[in-house]
Amino acid sequence: MFVLSHIDNNSCYKEHVLTYQIILESIGEIELEIEDLVEIVEGKTKLLVPKDSLSVNAPPKQPAFFNPRARISRDFSIIAYSTFLQNFKGPKIFLDSLAGIGAHSIRVANEIESIEQVFANDVNPSAIEIAMRAAKLNKVTKCDFSENEACRFLSSHSKRDTRGAIVDIDPFGSPTRFLDCGIRATSHGGLLSITATDLPVLHGLYQDACKRKYYGVPVKTEYGNEIAIRLILGCIHLVAGRLDVQIVPLFVQTNMHYYKVYVKVLVRTDSQENMGYIVHCKSCGHRKVQNEKEFSCEICSTKLDSAGPLWIGNLYDKAFVNQMLEEQKKFLVDKSCEKTLLKCQNEICMPGTYFTLDEIARKKRCAPISLSKIIEKLQKDGFQVSQTSLDPSGFRTNARIDKILQIF
Ligand SMILES: C[S@@+](CC[C@H](N)C(=O)[O-])C[C@H]1O[C@@H](n2cnc3c(N)ncnc32)[C@H](O)[C@@H]1O
Ligand SMILES: [Zn+2]
Repeated sequence: MFVLSHIDNNSCYKEHVLTYQIILESIGEIELEIEDLVEIVEGKTKLLVPKDSLSVNAPPKQPAFFNPRARISRDFSIIAYSTFLQNFKGPKIFLDSLAGIGAHSIRVANEIESIEQVFANDVNPSAIEIAMRAAKLNKVTKCDFSENEACRFLSSHSKRDTRGAIVDIDPFGSPTRFLDCGIRATSHGGLLSITATDLPVLHGLYQDACKRKYYGVPVKTEYGNEIAIRLILGCIHLVAGRLDVQIVPLFVQTNMHYYKVYVKVLVRTDSQENMGYIVHCKSCGHRKVQNEKEFSCEICSTKLDSAGPLWIGNLYDKAFVNQMLEEQKKFLVDKSCEKTLLKCQNEICMPGTYFTLDEIARKKRCAPISLSKIIEKLQKDGFQVSQTSLDPSGFRTNARIDKILQIF
């Protein structure tokens, strides 16, 4: 059992901060372990988090894991979930299968009015105990807690009337082991949000592991994060296909240490061909997104590298992103959310893969030109061009690399 007591004020965190002390007790023997908890505020929600998670670079897993740098990811989830629930017919249940200290679950229960029931689950009993405390602190009543292995938890929600309108999978590393049960636990027409943090695997450091987990391989390129996102979506699509389920990507988001995808789950056979390859020429930088592999570069005849098989369909749903832009105004979220969504809005109908200023400057052997200048010049020459939310110095265009270099 935990005993929680208020100790003092602490000003090292910019939010309202209180330090708590948890005293772990066991039957008969008191005070097995003592850990400090800190009260912080994210959005409109008070969270109790292990003190060390705010001060060290890699947040500790004990007594429970909390990553303050994933706050923007949680902000985006709040916006995406709230947007999604507006059009969802059926019980508005949120299943948080790897909930940690409940940062996600309690924010959803506290900030999204339309949510009816939240189930927060984690294998770590200390994390769940902390989450329960935070729920009380926020006077949240629509949250149930369980201490279980994630697949067991999700499988216990696989019957039709117990499935989630929204299911979240946010593990350490790769989410692939949770995909089958995550898809089964999502309602027809529901939303599945999935995070991956195994960046070295998805970026080509361990090709065999990537093939084993995601059924495809990456190629090291300037736009490696887009390849990673497409590998994750490709894997979800293949697993879903086995279960006669279709996925429709609504939104994707990334920063330095994670990728997050939001897909709609439809219990029906997918007849569209959205799997393929990104073929890339390491010599001249030419790339194409297509259903089949190709072996020789049409510009310089060098042998092409292939990333995939991966998802080559849309990454965003136009109406959903437009709605998210409206919805974000209702919440206390980071200002960067709106900026990111505006970029998504512009890149929705653009070709897959993007170029970066560095890549162009390196090829031209000159200092990087400004993004606005590149966009202006390409538009003047009649090409489509947009920024991308995936890289602050990236741009998408239907111009080929030889044309881009010629223009500059
Ligand atoms: C990245 S953290 C989750 C963070 C949380 N979603 C948040 O937003 O703060 C991953 C969590 O998964 C839990 N975990 C790891 N393996 C698990 C498993 N097989 N079943 C259930 N929980 C697991 C860990 O205890 C940890 O709390
Ligand atoms: Zn080439």
